[in-house]
Amino acid sequence: MTQKITAAITAVGGFVPEDKLTNADLEKIVDTNDEWIRSRTGIEERRILKGQKGTSDLLAPAVEQLLKKRGISPLEIDALVVGTVTPDMMFPSTANLVCHKAGLKNAWGFDMLAACSGFLYALTTGAALIESGRCKKVIVAGGDKMSSIVDYSDRTTCIIFGDGGAAVLLEANTEGYGVQDSILRSDGAGCAHLHMKAGGSLRPATAETVANKEHFIYQEGQPVFKAAVKGMADVSAELLERNNLTGDDIAWLVPHQANKRIIDATADRIGLSHDKVMLNIQRYGNTTAGTIPLCLWDWESQLKKGDNIVIAAFGGGFTWGATLIKWGY
Ligand code: UT7
Repeated sequence: MTQKITAAITAVGGFVPEDKLTNADLEKIVDTNDEWIRSRTGIEERRILKGQKGTSDLLAPAVEQLLKKRGISPLEIDALVVGTVTPDMMFPSTANLVCHKAGLKNAWGFDMLAACSGFLYALTTGAALIESGRCKKVIVAGGDKMSSIVDYSDRTTCIIFGDGGAAVLLEANTEGYGVQDSILRSDGAGCAHLHMKAGGSLRPATAETVANKEHFIYQEGQPVFKAAVKGMADVSAELLERNNLTGDDIAWLVPHQANKRIIDATADRIGLSHDKVMLNIQRYGNTTAGTIPLCLWDWESQLKKGDNIVIAAFGGGFTWGATLIKWGY
């Protein structure tokens, strides 16, 4: 009998820029204050990628670090899947550029545009490439240079977002480690509440779109907040139920870091104590597709082989989902 192939995470690499943007810095730019930002979002500071650099400059070092940690050559990688909403350019894909920068000469690569769920979509896609037997080693990366699409005169969005990215290596496994199950959802009706107005084929860039600030994030915070609390919690609960697990069986929840209040609500819904929830929003803010792999990067040394981990995300689109992983090392 042939053994079932699963996609196990076998290494993590990450990168955050050195430059920090603190709540005190933002107090000098917009009408806000540290107390409001901390209590409404949980954020204390974010990282900013300065200079003429793009998302590939966040992800190439993350990929290089991951390869070094695992001790393998970039030539062994079959494919790279990148979740991002801030590609270096409209085309080629950021994955294409990262393959070049990190020397993945035998890999093909493509981007997944699913906003804050980008890493989760990419992880499920990368895992499917392994499970099918088509690829042996796939890198899944998520990252965003959110500072490139943030309007720093809009206090409702500029306090939330930051820059950063990270990557995981997926390898074929026959002992049952890795991605176990995944529920992914999408609802384009949510576009009304969170999108970028111009720069795509619908509304190409013009002097007018620039003057109207249409190349920045447009977000209606409250409807997104409400949909995120419900979406992330519902899908996480459904994932546990269909795998016959309860909160007691889960070692860690890795939630998208958009707002600490959304994260707390998701943990409460699946009956998980808050000390089992990865939370680094205070240091990086919301790095969109970067938040989840950056959590895995920060917590890597605390993870144990066999740990059940639930990853959950909600973001623009709307897109959302949850994935169950058995940690492999
Ligand atoms: O990751 C992608 C998905 N995005 C999300 O999940 C984000 C979801 N939304 C949120 O996290 C929250 O809605 C925000 C953090 C964006 C806003 O928090 P909120 O508790 O929903 O605030 P609000 O929009 O209801 O605004 C409350 C008040 C308003 O003042 P009034 O009308 O009550 O006088 C705002 O003008 O807070 C004011 N406000 C601020 N005050 C100080 C809004 N932004 C700020 C600010 N500093 N930065």
